[in-house]
Amino acid sequence: MKQEVHGNLTGLRDSLIASLSQLYLYEVDGDVFLPRELMQLLARFTQIMNREIALYITRDGEVVDVSVGTDKDVELRDYRLRRNAQRLSCVRCVHTHPNGDGRLSDVDLSALRAFRYDAMAAIGCKDGEPTFVQAAFLGENAGILMDEPARWYRTPDEAWLEQIYLSDKIVGWGEQEKQHGLKERAVLMGIESEESLAELARLADTAGAEVVGSFLQKRDKPDTALFIGRGRADELCRQVQALEADVCIFDEELTGIQVRNLEDILHVKVVDRTTLILDIFAQRASSAEGKLQVELAQLQYQSTRLIGQGLVLSRLAGGIGTRGPGESKLEMNRRRIRERMTELRRRLEGMEKQRELRRKSRERNEIPVVALVGYTNAGKSTLLNRMTGADVYVQDQLFATLDAVSRRIETAEHTPFLLVDTVGFIRKLPHALVSAFRSTLDEAALADVLIIVSDGASEEMLKQHETVEQVLAELGATEQPRIEVINKCDLGAAVPALPGAVMVSARTGEGLDELSARIAAELQKTYAPVTFFLPFSQYGLLGQIRPLGRVISENHTDTGTELTMIIGQADRDRLVSKYGPDILKK
Ligand code: GTP
Repeated sequence: MKQEVHGNLTGLRDSLIASLSQLYLYEVDGDVFLPRELMQLLARFTQIMNREIALYITRDGEVVDVSVGTDKDVELRDYRLRRNAQRLSCVRCVHTHPNGDGRLSDVDLSALRAFRYDAMAAIGCKDGEPTFVQAAFLGENAGILMDEPARWYRTPDEAWLEQIYLSDKIVGWGEQEKQHGLKERAVLMGIESEESLAELARLADTAGAEVVGSFLQKRDKPDTALFIGRGRADELCRQVQALEADVCIFDEELTGIQVRNLEDILHVKVVDRTTLILDIFAQRASSAEGKLQVELAQLQYQSTRLIGQGLVLSRLAGGIGTRGPGESKLEMNRRRIRERMTELRRRLEGMEKQRELRRKSRERNEIPVVALVGYTNAGKSTLLNRMTGADVYVQDQLFATLDAVSRRIETAEHTPFLLVDTVGFIRKLPHALVSAFRSTLDEAALADVLIIVSDGASEEMLKQHETVEQVLAELGATEQPRIEVINKCDLGAAVPALPGAVMVSARTGEGLDELSARIAAELQKTYAPVTFFLPFSQYGLLGQIRPLGRVISENHTDTGTELTMIIGQADRDRLVSKYGPDILKK
């Protein structure tokens, strides 16, 4: 990025211009709106030149523009980017008034409105020292929120930073982009295979982008600096321009340096596969836990590649890669990120404890858990809906389900169980995501029976199945019984390529009886209902047996009591060996 001083430089000495350009190196701490030291520096420059100076500062504290004006004004620059006209620009403009007057002028306020700065601040300067400072922010219906000028050494930094956050909320974003039908135009670039690129296209579509081009350059190893070769990058730049793309999405993980280098060459925002997936998750997360998990995953990923945050373009443009539950927090600096991650982990741990309690109570009630797992879009949610009459979000999009959803149902033999829908798996599933979603995915790992749902209509079925196996292994879910299901057989799916798989169609209901029977058979092995018969002489045993499982029915007859219940195999055997086989109904 060129770090030139802009504006009215006539008559200024080169050495002075060089000193001014040093302002680009200034880093504003994340919890300071305008550092005192910077104000003093600007006041001194203002006195030397008797001209206004404007500085533009991003939310992560970077100075992205230094402009010099006249003694009366400075040209205020438009920092909004094309497809983002509704949002705040993510840049605050601070500028000096050489006449000592720290109040914002009407011109300043109309620039704030027109260019949608995060904030507009004026620093009055006199005799080389700052005097008063006033800051203004956008409010509802393009209104302006403004404090009285404050003494320069008493600016309420925290409140002003908070106001940027609030204004961002008020002004709103994302939704408006959608309403205006402005889709980001995306070009895809892969090095692996057409299949992987096709999946990336679906991901981009799910994220709300319009794919306008897709390119493959087969390589065994990515280039360390640019991921693709230099020549290919130049060519891609021309293609991106010709296609008028706003974003280029790479089909692998990029390092921070690669992102920065590529953005320098391509002049558009560069996003990698992981960021794209995280972005989709960010849009989808609905439960409190899901949101925290996504935010943690985003921060985890971001903290390892802060260097890639440098380019103004990528951070300001909005859209893919900038959305998240902690949206405005995506502009945080390293220290804040660390603090926030600790906080998120602490809160998630609390939730996990609750989940653990729920799980324990489930175990006490002996309700077995059957989990639907599978590649994204295989039809797990549709299947859950079909089997339970539940109303789970179904979409022909990737990752429609984010939070584990569970429904209680019964087999034909009245064995109750919980059917759990889980987040879809995908190849190259970001690692940060797996660890952040660990507790949700554990629902699958700890299930008594796994139903692995495969998409029979996908040519990639076997490869997807392999991925699912890998993720399950990573989660340690290798022990429990599995039922293989090939879904979408109404689409005339091919021969069952998975041994023993049940062919079903969640859409038409075909094959579901067989699936239910298979589930019942698996559950029967450990959770069969047992009927005890206790004559009056053993009546006292009832109180001992009941709490061991879940009672289905209790009938009092002339000779004694019949107690039918779901009880674990071990407890059943223990009772029989202690009281004799006669306690079981013949
Ligand atoms: P994720 O939430 O991404 O994990 O997806 P999922 O596995 O829960 O898939 P979902 O149930 O959302 O279904 C994905 C798409 O497949 C939807 O468009 C469904 O309508 C469609 N679908 C699901 N089952 C069938 C089926 O048996 N036949 C046909 N033709 N389409 C189906």
